[in-house]
Amino acid sequence: MKIAVLPGDGIGPEIVAQAVKVLNALNIGIEMEEAPIGGAGYEAAGDPLPEATLALAKSSDAVLLGAVGDWKYDKLERHLRPERGLLRIRKELNLFANLRPALLYPELASASTLKPEVVAGLDIMIVRELTGDIYFGQPRGISTLENGEREGINTMRYSESEIRRIAHVAFGIAMKRNKKVCSVDKANVLETTELWRQVMIEVAKEYPEVELSHMYVDNAAMQLIRAPKQFDVMVTGNIFGDILSDEASMLTGSIGMLPSASLDQNNKGMYEPSHGSAPDIAGKDIANPLATILSAAMMLRYSFNDEANATRIENAVKKALAEGYRTADIYTDGCRKVGCAAMGDAVVAAL
Ligand code: NAD
Ligand code: IPM
Ligand code: MN
Repeated sequence: MKIAVLPGDGIGPEIVAQAVKVLNALNIGIEMEEAPIGGAGYEAAGDPLPEATLALAKSSDAVLLGAVGDWKYDKLERHLRPERGLLRIRKELNLFANLRPALLYPELASASTLKPEVVAGLDIMIVRELTGDIYFGQPRGISTLENGEREGINTMRYSESEIRRIAHVAFGIAMKRNKKVCSVDKANVLETTELWRQVMIEVAKEYPEVELSHMYVDNAAMQLIRAPKQFDVMVTGNIFGDILSDEASMLTGSIGMLPSASLDQNNKGMYEPSHGSAPDIAGKDIANPLATILSAAMMLRYSFNDEANATRIENAVKKALAEGYRTADIYTDGCRKVGCAAMGDAVVAAL
C-alpha cells in the first residue's frame, strides 16, 4: 500500500502529521511519499498542482490530503490559486463521489450549537457530486460588456451520465444503511436540477428497497437544523453539497470533526477533512486533527478494504473523546483541553 501525502497549506501540515502518526502506529506497512499542493505547490514549482505531485497521486493507491488555500494567494490569477490545484486533482483522478459522513460522537453532544436532543444519535451520509456542476461548467469568467460594465459568468450543468453514476453511489450506500435517500435539488427553478431529479427517480427503480425523497435545497438547509435525524443518505450536486456539508458539520460539534472520501469508479480515492486550511489558526497547534484522522480511517475502509483497522482508528477517536481530550473547537467545561499534536498522541495512545 502506497499513499501520496499532500499536506497543503495553513493547518494542513499540522493535521496531516497527526493522521500519519496514527497510520504509522497501526504498523501495517503503509509506504508514504509527500508532495506539495495548493499554495505549497505554487511556492515549490509555480503551480498549485505540480506535475510531479499529480504523477505521484496517480501512481499511488490512495491520496491523503490536508487542505489548501491562504488569503495571501487571493490576488494571484485564478489558474495559479491553491483552490485550483485541489479542483484539478479531483478532476484528473476522476473523483466524482465525495462522501462526507456527519456523525455525532455521543461525547460531543454538548459541543454542538444545537440542543443535545436534536443531534443525539445523528448519523447522516452526505454524498456530494464532486467533478461537475457550476464548479466546472463552461462558459465561465469575467468579461466586459459592450456598455463597459463587467459581467461574471459560471455555468451550472450536469450530463445524464454524471447524475446517474452519483445516484448509484448514493443508493448503493443507502442499501448498507437505513435505505433512505433524500435527493437535494432546486428543481423548481433550475433545469440542471430538474434533470437531476428525473435521473434520480429513474435510478431509484433499480433499488426498490430504498425509499427516495426529494427536497429543495433551501428547505434542506432549514431541515438540517430543525430535525437533522430525519436524514439517512443525502445526495446532491457539487455546490449544494459543499454548503450543506459545512452546515451539517456543526451538528457534530465542529467542522474539525467532518472527514471525507473522494472516490472514482473503482474506489481509488483521495481522503481529506471537509474543512479548509483555517489560516486564522495555522501554526498555533490548536487545530482539530480528528477530521483528518477519521479521513485516514475512511481510506483504509474504501481504498484498502481494511474494515478492521478503519474501525480501530474510529474506536481510538471515540476513546480519546471519552477520556476527555478536546481541542479548542470542541472544548466544553470539565474536559482536558489539548493542542493538535497532543490530540494525535491521545488517539495513538488509545489505539
Ligand atoms: P476553513 O474551513 O478553512 O475555516 C472556517 C473556520 O473553521 C475558521 O474559523 C477555522 O479556524 C475553523 N476551522 C476549520 N478547520 C478547523 C479545524 N480542523 N480545527 C479547528 N477549527 C477549524 O474555511 P475558510 O476560512 O472559508 O477558508 C480558508 C481557506 O481554506 C480558503 O483559502 C479556502 O479556499 C480554503 N478551503 C480549502 C478547503 C480544502 O482544501 N478542502 C476546504 C475549504 C476551504
Ligand atoms: C471543500 C472546499 C473546496 C470546494 C474549495 C477549497 C475548492 O470548500 O473541499 O469543501 O469548494 O470543494
Ligand atoms: Mn467546502
